[in-house]
Amino acid sequence: MKLALVVGARPNFVKISPLIKAINEHNKSTLPQIQYILVHTGQHYDSFMSDSFFQSLQIPKPHFNLGIGSGTHAEQVGNTMIAFEKVLKSEQPDWVVVVGDVNATLACSITAKKEQIKVCHIEAGLRSGDMTMPEEINRLVTDRLSDLLLTPDQLSSKNLRQEGTDVDKIKMVGNIMIDTLNDALETAGMLELDEIIQRNSADEVNKNPEADSYALITLHRPSNVDQVEDLTKIVQFFIDQAASQIPLVWPVHPRTLKNLERFELLETLRKNNNIILLQPLNYFDMLKLNSQAKMVITDSGGLQEECTVLGTPCITMRFNTERPITLQEHGGTSVLVGNDLSKVKLSFNAALNQKRESRIPELWDGHAAVRCLAEIIKY
Ligand code: UD1
Repeated sequence: MKLALVVGARPNFVKISPLIKAINEHNKSTLPQIQYILVHTGQHYDSFMSDSFFQSLQIPKPHFNLGIGSGTHAEQVGNTMIAFEKVLKSEQPDWVVVVGDVNATLACSITAKKEQIKVCHIEAGLRSGDMTMPEEINRLVTDRLSDLLLTPDQLSSKNLRQEGTDVDKIKMVGNIMIDTLNDALETAGMLELDEIIQRNSADEVNKNPEADSYALITLHRPSNVDQVEDLTKIVQFFIDQAASQIPLVWPVHPRTLKNLERFELLETLRKNNNIILLQPLNYFDMLKLNSQAKMVITDSGGLQEECTVLGTPCITMRFNTERPITLQEHGGTSVLVGNDLSKVKLSFNAALNQKRESRIPELWDGHAAVRCLAEIIKY
């Protein structure tokens, strides 16, 4: 059996790494071997967003890099399809395995189906119900086309059944990202907070935050960072209210950095002694910072999940989430606040007094990749 594994953007790398490890383990047995090719679409391309993840997660060099880079959605999806079709024609895999919800996920699943190659989607069935999110469109189309839909939880399986997906195609395998998290905990645990901060900061940092005494921030969604009014309001909150109570550590996504510069917000942030801006972090650095933070303020889906497992109170700056299992009402640690700053403030004050308490959803046990591979083999 030959698999084409697809990655394109940062959150994909964390999901493909355990699958490659599971394939390598399988190939040590006497069972029929599984061949794979790794295809990187190149949507994320710089050393912080891509290379550092390949290194820290020991992902082998991709067999193909499609070099798509930045662009509009149509450019990224269209260029990926054109380049990926050539790979499929020459490599003739039995399966294309896509993960997550980025433009690579969508583009490669459409191309595969048109070439009549089976598609397996890992992290199927997530739904935010928000059609203004590019990721929601990517999820819907990918799941509609997939032959095998591997879900992280029961809520996602239920979404698929409600949409009329053939139940035989849906398998709950747990959350593959938590395989990576569990594997990395020991290495991350050995890192020192101040060393991470110094290594990733462009400015001189005089005061290093201590464990359980800082808020970790990540923001990159267009709904938070693309409009001057929204981003200004958020930055004002950080400066006027949050940073006066607790140090803020903020690894800045390239999309956000560009907009902070464009909207002339960057200098004010840099001048604030209690706000530490960092470059995008490698996986271990981020895990360490998350596991020691008083709280996380984010709009990332992956971080909501990691916070739930690590027990970090998570203030999610989104109006909806495709990951309801991470919400407090479903047993997780995250609370949705949109970009309503009165809600952010309330949750921020609550989180200052909240204790870290880990919650582990069913099958988020570090063995999802083995189950994914078993389902592909069994199909
Ligand atoms: C993408 C995904 C999103 C995911 C996020 C994680 C889609 C539709 N969106 O959004 O689901 O949560 O990645 O990061 O696929 N850039 C760099 N260096 C890079 C990559 C990008 O500087 O290595 C810049 C680009 O020039 C671009 C901006 O960052 O202007 C945004 O990149 P893009 O890939 O378009 O989308 P993300 O916002 O990263």
